[in-house]
Amino acid sequence: MVGFPRRPSTAVRYIVRALLLIFVFYSLLGPSDPSQDGSFAPLRPWRRLFSSSGHPIDKLVKAAEKEFASKIAKATKSLPDAAAAYRKRRGRHPPPGFDQWYQFAVEKQAIIVEDFWDQIYHDLEPFWALDPARIRKDAREFEMRIHIRDHKASTESDWFWTQIWLTLIQTIEHLLPDMDLALNPMDEPRVVASWEDVNEYLREAAKTKTMANPKEVVSNFGKLPPVEQAPPDQEQMPPVIWESDKHYWRIVRRGCPPDSPAREAEVITDFDQTPAIADPFSLAHMRDGYVANYTLSTSFCHQPDLQALEGIFVEPLSVSATKSLLPMFGGSKLAVNNDILLPAPIYWNEEDRFVGAEGASIPWEAKHAMAAWRGVATGGRNRPNNWRSFQRHRFVAMNNASILSDSSQPPPNFALPSPRYPLPDALPDWISANTNIGFTDMMCLYVPPPEESEPGFPGCNYTVPFFSIVPSIPMADQFHFKILPDIDGNSFSGRYLGFLKSTSLPIKSTLWREWHDSRLVAWKHFVPMDNRFGDWFGLLAYFLGNGKTQGRDDVAKKIAMDGRDWAARVLRKEDMQVYVLRLLLEYARVVDERREMMGWVDDLL
Ligand SMILES: *[C@@H]1O[C@H](CO)[C@@H](O)[C@H](O)[C@H]1NC(C)=O
Ligand SMILES: *[C@@H]1O[C@H](CO)[C@@H](O)[C@H](O)[C@H]1NC(C)=O
Ligand SMILES: *[C@@H]1O[C@H](CO)[C@@H](O)[C@H](O)[C@H]1NC(C)=O
Repeated sequence: MVGFPRRPSTAVRYIVRALLLIFVFYSLLGPSDPSQDGSFAPLRPWRRLFSSSGHPIDKLVKAAEKEFASKIAKATKSLPDAAAAYRKRRGRHPPPGFDQWYQFAVEKQAIIVEDFWDQIYHDLEPFWALDPARIRKDAREFEMRIHIRDHKASTESDWFWTQIWLTLIQTIEHLLPDMDLALNPMDEPRVVASWEDVNEYLREAAKTKTMANPKEVVSNFGKLPPVEQAPPDQEQMPPVIWESDKHYWRIVRRGCPPDSPAREAEVITDFDQTPAIADPFSLAHMRDGYVANYTLSTSFCHQPDLQALEGIFVEPLSVSATKSLLPMFGGSKLAVNNDILLPAPIYWNEEDRFVGAEGASIPWEAKHAMAAWRGVATGGRNRPNNWRSFQRHRFVAMNNASILSDSSQPPPNFALPSPRYPLPDALPDWISANTNIGFTDMMCLYVPPPEESEPGFPGCNYTVPFFSIVPSIPMADQFHFKILPDIDGNSFSGRYLGFLKSTSLPIKSTLWREWHDSRLVAWKHFVPMDNRFGDWFGLLAYFLGNGKTQGRDDVAKKIAMDGRDWAARVLRKEDMQVYVLRLLLEYARVVDERREMMGWVDDLL
């Protein structure tokens, strides 16, 4: 049996328990497959993989077309319509300044679908439970800030991200009220309130969801004292406690529901072995072997095996986390973090290293029918006893024909694909013909103690048997390949926007949430991949052919082009401005004492 834990470990115990549960569940649903070999792997969810009704990916692509069509059908074309869509979806009046926001969006030729701003409301809703003065105080006292006073944005910080965010905010400062923004200078997100606390905040916040009588609505924002002037002393809050446990899983899982697998599963502490990769934990978001619910696939609460499959959970470069609901703005976060998302600085900056604009329009037919990936071995701090749990190491190793063909030992850090995928007989040859994947830097940050250091090795001899450095390919040249897998690094992958804007096809696996998520539809604008990568070979076989059946080049091309066209409509810098303007109007309202009475109601008067 492939794909299951090879060594007994604590991880195996809970995985076996979960497998049994899932087996019982599917046994109850119907007779189990008689061809089953006596193992407890659930076959039922996969049954249609070989059915005559077409490839499962065809169905996912078709469903995505429908989802997208119904999404854009909701586009509003006038201010009253946009305000009505707002009230229907948000249960409040739009914030003061909504008319100016709308006009700005129209001037920037933005497509206005209320769902596009869902992330803002997800991020800000818990703050409706906090005292506005406390939120303002927390923001003002944080060490890295942007201030807005009298329509001028400024910062004392010269940190390059803050400077980039400042340039973004300055483009809309004339439309912004006074406020202070706390900014996260780190790659990693900072705020993880417990699920129980967030649940309580949301319950409190729900009580403030009222549609005030339009005649009584306050339609202006308040003013703040000058930055230098300390406001009158307010109630003392307990000091914010920063946690620095490098084993981030132990911190972050408190954001999951108490009865979730992430909270209930034993914590894995031994990463010095091939990790247990448990497909059953992916069943909730996959259908017939492929990701069917992309948003759910990026949440880890139902996927406790990911604790040993992602650098962020094992050992991030830095950890500084808090339970306190601080109003902290940042560029990306995990599903349960309470940070408030802004577009990441590198997206606003359009650095060529990440965008590769020059190559982005290479015609599809001129590309190699192959998958290419280059990157550095990020994910966290890799060490001799944890690198097997890093996602990029896993992805690169499983695309190495020499490792795949070595039957003398089990894979060092991955699981062979399920035999249920229709793969070629000679997997290693097929992989070397169809992929060009490797590291350009092993990120040897680990410094061995003197007695272990070896002349000639900077400290990474532990990965030498499995990886070698390959020549880098500049972003613009990566677009000579049809398929571009995208794998998380220390946090979100900064090249994703460049991939989307290009004529190549991004295959995306991620745990990170970004500002743009609700604008994109999986299987319409990009191809989703499970974070275990168990579906990777199946995806490649579908798009490039497996030697027995033709690849679906037409489908690959269509998703690549639809993604590029859509990115050119809704992921422009103008769309980032429109997003941030909406976000900051909402933020300025939630930190105002009069917030429940504030709104834009001109359409109702
Ligand atoms: C995807 O999963 C989420 C739960 O995270 C659920 O709310 C949503 O309805 C699911 N979507 C579909 C299309 O099943
Ligand atoms: C790395 O070097 C140390 C110290 O010489 C040695 O103990 C260890 O076995 C080496 N590891 C590998 C994988 O070669
Ligand atoms: C592929 O794996 C072999 C070990 O089987 C290793 O020596 C080689 O460096 C790896 N290649 C790459 C590009 O990482």
